[in-house]
Formats: sequence, structure tokens, C-alpha cells
Amino acid sequence: MKVCVVGSGGREHVLAHVLGRSAEVVVTPGNPGIPGSVDMPAEELAADLFVIGPEAPLVDGLADRLRAQGKAVFGPGADGARLEGSKAWMKQVASDAGVPTARYASFTEEAPALAFLETLPGLYVVKTDGLAAGKGVLVTESLAEARDAVRSYLSGSAFGDAGRTVVIEEGLRGPELSLLAICDGTRAIALAPAQDFKRVGDDDLGPNTGGMGAYSPVPFVSPVTVTEVMDRHVMPTIHALRGRGIDYRGVLYAGLMFTPEGPKLIEYNVRFGDPEAQVVLPRLSTDLAELLRQAATGRMQDIVEFRQVAAVTVVCASDGYPRSPRVGDVIEGLAEAAAVDGVSVYMAGVDRDGQGRLVTAGGRVLNVTALAPTLRRAREQAYAAVGHLRWPGMHHRSDIALEASRFD
Ligand code: AMP
Ligand code: GLY
Repeated sequence: MKVCVVGSGGREHVLAHVLGRSAEVVVTPGNPGIPGSVDMPAEELAADLFVIGPEAPLVDGLADRLRAQGKAVFGPGADGARLEGSKAWMKQVASDAGVPTARYASFTEEAPALAFLETLPGLYVVKTDGLAAGKGVLVTESLAEARDAVRSYLSGSAFGDAGRTVVIEEGLRGPELSLLAICDGTRAIALAPAQDFKRVGDDDLGPNTGGMGAYSPVPFVSPVTVTEVMDRHVMPTIHALRGRGIDYRGVLYAGLMFTPEGPKLIEYNVRFGDPEAQVVLPRLSTDLAELLRQAATGRMQDIVEFRQVAAVTVVCASDGYPRSPRVGDVIEGLAEAAAVDGVSVYMAGVDRDGQGRLVTAGGRVLNVTALAPTLRRAREQAYAAVGHLRWPGMHHRSDIALEASRFD
């Protein structure tokens, strides 16, 4: 089987790596650190299966355009991708389907939005309706800060058109979980749960990022909890989509928070998580290419199997990330890092300079992933590899999987 992966980050690198166990893989546009990268429009490539990594091309209808050419595509059409492209629509679908989620309302006008804020109990969440590269969410205990965000989002000054509709939610508290389900239009099957670390600094301090690290499995999540989330969140959503005439084939990624009243939906994404994919996919013993081909063609098997190994990913970020990442710094120590037992280094924001050296080219630069029998061991190996890497201003969190590894 020949598979074409669309995208250019660490998620696409791990997709290519794991798909490559059984398939021939090309990645477009990829990056200079991902083997098999070819910078050509997906519409001009031939493959038995197309796997679309990021949300932007999905929201933009790439899956529809490829399907119109008769191609097998893993990834929802623009209709289903609205779950991520419009948070207001996502909340509407979730509410209609009876999915447990935070209380919310959406607004285009300032006065009613500010009035709704006043009714919330004290942790305020303000989100852009549209895509904002993972940065359009403010969670704050300060009513003044929440009010300022509402004003700057609605005026377009903060996020352009993405913020002209805002979603305001009650803030929930509790541990977060990412549960990714593979869907074939009617069925959904859960992958192993993962936990992501969203804030830039240790102890969850500092601004939100795309994700600074992840691990899987998650010791506090039992198979019973996974079944409950599939029954109460994922399957009702797939049925609600079908009821709207949407044939959803791709990943439905449920971002959940464990509250005292049980798991509640925070968000849906319409793609593999980044960096969750880096810890979930390498653990698969099921053939990924075959699983995704089946989902793309609407006839999925109902078992996925995972190896009894733990995975930890630490994201190494460039100076200034997430506010203003600096690019062009030469990356050193890659060979030593990759030589650490059980470690793979997935390339995210990288490029080559005029002398052919690998340099930073984005905020999240490298995803250092270790597989080992226990989370504790995987964590030690990932951090041993990170210790070999350097460029000016490189930073990473030092507490990825720390709490969870105490369960080993
Ligand atoms: P989202 O892009 O919707 O996933 O939001 C990014 C992050 O903001 C989430 O992973 C949570 O950490 C946080 N967040 C979003 N919504 C809420 C909420 N209702 N209560 C508490 N935290 C939230
Ligand atoms: N790691 C969070 C995301 O992929 O949206």
C-alpha cells in the first residue's frame, strides 16, 4: 500500500514512521527532517490512502477535493471538520447530542457577552469561535481579564475574523485527558488514552501552547472510563453528525476534563493530537495503514491492540515560544539524542540553512519520544536524550509524566 500523509510537523513524522511499518509513505509538504517528504499538492499525488494531519486543510475541504477525485481519504470533509473549525457549532452539536460539557453561550455582540460573564461562578473561559492556531483560548480567574479578552476578540484586534464570534464557558477544574477515536462514518474505536501538557512551563504555569509533551498509557484512566466516554460522548456525537447528513471518517479527538461530576467534554479536534500521536501511535500493535484504510472506506474492524509499553514525549521548543518563536538557530546533538535506548526524535519545526545544517523553523522544534516498559523508564530515557540537544534559547518542560510515573 502507498500512503500519502499531508502536513509538516511532528505528528506527520510519527504518522509516517508508524505507517512505514507496513506501507510505502510520502509526506507532503513534510520537512527536511522527515524521510519521504515531497513538496507537491496532494491532489497531484497518487496513493492508495491519504491521511490528512492538521486541522486547517480539513476545515478548508481538502478531504472533499481528494474524495471528488475518487481517492480514499482518512480525515473528515469540511462539514465534519466544523467540529474544530467552529467552537460554537461544536458546542451546539454536543448539546443536541446530550454530551456532558461545560455550560456556555456564544456571542457576536459585546453587551450580552459581558453580561453572561457575570453569571459564571469564577473561572472564566473565553474562546475564539474560529481556528487560532491553538492560541484563542483564555482561562482566567480575573473577570477584568476575561472582559478585555471579549472586547479584543469581538473587535477583531486579537484574532481577526476567528474571534468575531466568541464562545464563553464556565471554567472546569480537574485532570485532562485526550481520547482519540478512529471513525469510519458509523463506528468508532478508541485508541489508548494520552495526557497532554498545554502550558509552557512546569507545574502548568505560563501561557497555553499547542502541547509541550505527552504520555500514554494514563494510569488514572481505566478501560471502564474509556467505555463510558465512548458511550456518552463519542458515539452520540457520531450519531448526531449522521443525523445532519455527515459521514465522519477520520479521528474524533475528545479533549476531556475529569470533574467531580464525571468526564466533561472540553473540545473536539478532527485530527490526531500533536504531541498525543507521538505517544499513542508507536504503541500500536495493530497495522495502522490497514486500520486507516478501512476507516477511510467505511468498513472498519472493531479491535485495535496496543503493546504493553509506555511512551513519553518531551517537546523541545525554540526561544520565545509560544509568544514569538525565534527561528534559524542551529540544532546540535541530534545523533547522540537518537542513540539513547528506545528513543525516536520526531522533527516538527525544522529547516535546513544554506550550509545544509538543521535549524529551528518554528515554535515546537523537536519531539523526543521514548518507549520503555514503564512510564518511569520512558521518562528517564526521553530526558536523557533531551540532555544531548541544544540550540540558543531551547526550552522544554521538566515535569512531563512526572506524576503519572509515580504509579509505576
Ligand atoms: P481548547 O482549545 O478548547 O482545547 O482549550 C485549550 C485548553 O484550555 C484546554 O486544554 C484546557 O486546558 C483549557 N480549557 C478549555 N476550556 C476549558 C473550560 N471550560 N474549563 C477549564 N479549562 C478549559
Ligand atoms: N495537543 C493538543 C492538540 O493537538 O490540539
